[in-house]
Amino acid sequence: MEVAEFVLLGLSSSWELRYFFFVLFNFLYMAIVLGNLLIVITVISEPALHTPMYIMLSNLSVLDVFLATYATPKMIHDFLHEPKIISFEGCMAQIFLLHVFAGGEMVLLVAMAYDRYVAICKPLHYATIMNLCRCTGLVVGSWVIGVMHSLSQLAFTINLPFCGPNIVDSYYCDLTLVIKLACTDTYVPEVLMLLDSGLMGVTSFFLLLISYMVILVTVRGHSSVSMAKARSTLTAHITVVILFFGPCIFIYSWPFSNFPVDKVLSVFSTVFTPILNPIIYTLRNKEVKSAMHKLKTRYISSRLLFQLSLTRLNLLN
Ligand SMILES: *[C@@H]1O[C@H](CO)[C@@H](O)[C@H](O)[C@H]1NC(C)=O
Repeated sequence: MEVAEFVLLGLSSSWELRYFFFVLFNFLYMAIVLGNLLIVITVISEPALHTPMYIMLSNLSVLDVFLATYATPKMIHDFLHEPKIISFEGCMAQIFLLHVFAGGEMVLLVAMAYDRYVAICKPLHYATIMNLCRCTGLVVGSWVIGVMHSLSQLAFTINLPFCGPNIVDSYYCDLTLVIKLACTDTYVPEVLMLLDSGLMGVTSFFLLLISYMVILVTVRGHSSVSMAKARSTLTAHITVVILFFGPCIFIYSWPFSNFPVDKVLSVFSTVFTPILNPIIYTLRNKEVKSAMHKLKTRYISSRLLFQLSLTRLNLLN
């Protein structure tokens, strides 16, 4: 018999906690969507921010919204519903999307670190190395690598025979858990999955580590104001990287034993990182703040104009 659907156990089995989570995650999800949209709108509407760093940042915001959307709304809905069912196709879709977005985000974070490396360590060549064309290439490249990584993961998962148990102890179809439900010897697929995701995660993590180390060493010798600014940008990047990679590495380093903390760690990668990106990159950044201020002034003045014309119409009538 083929498995047509999977049963998710969700984040928590206590009803009191579920009501609390329902409210909390509703709030967090709205904050993620609004915060990241605000970044995208600010960057698009301010010509001064049409530089590789900010274009990649707003692309990261788009990825963050996707990363928060492939499973979180279903989880929020499921807090108040029982049983939590997901179809076989839905489950495969979740696995596919998670790996596209997470893989894309990893590569984009590497691209952003490379951009900072060129800006800080080769400032005189920055304009020629990081032109808009190269920037587009890096953004498109991160999507292509994300999709290819995800397809390769799915290729050996989708053909596994699922016939018996169909209970996934998480709030989404976590590949490390789903693969164990196949009614065959899952040792080889599990090792393949581990190598695939591991290669992706470890490669980007080390590239990030190396570029940040080179930058830190460069920055250390200088004590000017610009270097202080570089240091604060760097701290922001490193915080995001640790928050995003920490949980991924933990989940995939012990995939064969199922720790109960895995669920909580997944929430970190898919809810807390997307909400932290706007906070870390934006609220501490003068250029973005002043662009947002301009946007607000423009919005208010256009509203005033609109109201003025309304009053004028009223007077005419
Ligand atoms: C994402 O990057 C591409 C390529 O550089 C750029 O054209 C596009 O405007 C960016 N998207 C956003 C939402 O900033």
